[in-house]
Amino acid sequence: MAAHNGSDTFDIGGELTVHRLGYGAMRITGDDVIGTPDDEAGAVDIVREAVEMGVDFIDTADSYGPGVSERLLGEALSPADDVVVATKAGLLRNSEGEWLPHGDPDYIRNQVLVSRDRLGVDTIDLYQFHRPDPDTPFEDSVMAFAELKDDGFVDHVGLSNVSVEQLETARDHVEVATVQNRYNVAHRDDEDVLQACEEYGIGFIPWYPMAAGDLGEVGDDLRAVADSHDATRHQIALAWLLEHSDVTLPIPGTSSLDHLEENVAAAGIELTDQEYERLC
Ligand SMILES: NC(=O)c1ccc[n+]([C@@H]2O[C@H](COP(=O)([O-])OP(=O)(O)OC[C@H]3O[C@@H](n4cnc5c(N)ncnc54)[C@H](OP(=O)(O)O)[C@@H]3O)[C@@H](O)[C@H]2O)c1
Repeated sequence: MAAHNGSDTFDIGGELTVHRLGYGAMRITGDDVIGTPDDEAGAVDIVREAVEMGVDFIDTADSYGPGVSERLLGEALSPADDVVVATKAGLLRNSEGEWLPHGDPDYIRNQVLVSRDRLGVDTIDLYQFHRPDPDTPFEDSVMAFAELKDDGFVDHVGLSNVSVEQLETARDHVEVATVQNRYNVAHRDDEDVLQACEEYGIGFIPWYPMAAGDLGEVGDDLRAVADSHDATRHQIALAWLLEHSDVTLPIPGTSSLDHLEENVAAAGIELTDQEYERLC
């Protein structure tokens, strides 16, 4: 029988209730997150399977493809699925695969229209500023997101790749519903940002939640804990994130049905206090 998402729930912005274990749709594109995947129908199927397994929170961005991930989500999802889709703006791509920060307010206002069309929605559930742009004052970019919320184009605003200081600055201008930073059991540089999110009741979306398998120094401990649960290291990395804080919303990304099953099943793994401490 297929895995079922047994994670508990979190209310994004106090009102969008989602299961905490979500899905990251960055990897349903071509190589290096550019262009189309080899099997578009298969990519749509993966998203549908995730929803069947009870995943109701999916992360994407205009820059994934660019455009491809959003377009495939638009094809895979219907309003009846009741899935909260979080997308992002603020990074340009080129054919070399570079990621170029671009927080110009006019550009952000353009991108929300494009993302609405590709996702097939009138209002974007959660719109995240992908990465601060050194060439645009951070507050100018944030104000563009705030205005899009005021104007009803987006329900909630999130940030990504920010410091605590930038989070505080943004909160002066808009209600911040989520922060999405790189964070996993092996890389915890942004523990202070996670703690700020806990303090404010903001969702923390740890990207790279399984470090794509590069689990460094904790790899051996993860393997030992995994063995005792007849699980994989990737699954224990996800179980640890869910245990570590009530506000984490991991979005493991995969283009493999077997990995999707494993990742969803990880929400059902209960770590003992000893196992959790061993990984801390
Ligand atoms: N805000 C940002 O700046 C930012 C940056 C990067 C990513 N993100 C978001 O975060 C999401 C997740 O990040 P990520 O994809 O970089 O990292 P990740 O979820 O930690 O790792 C994904 C990688 O691990 C593999 N994998 C997935 N499940 C596995 C399993 N059970 N066993 C073994 N390998 C497995 C995948 O390959 P297979 O396809 O073969 O399964 C893929 O190569 C993305 O989809 C995106 O939505 C955001």
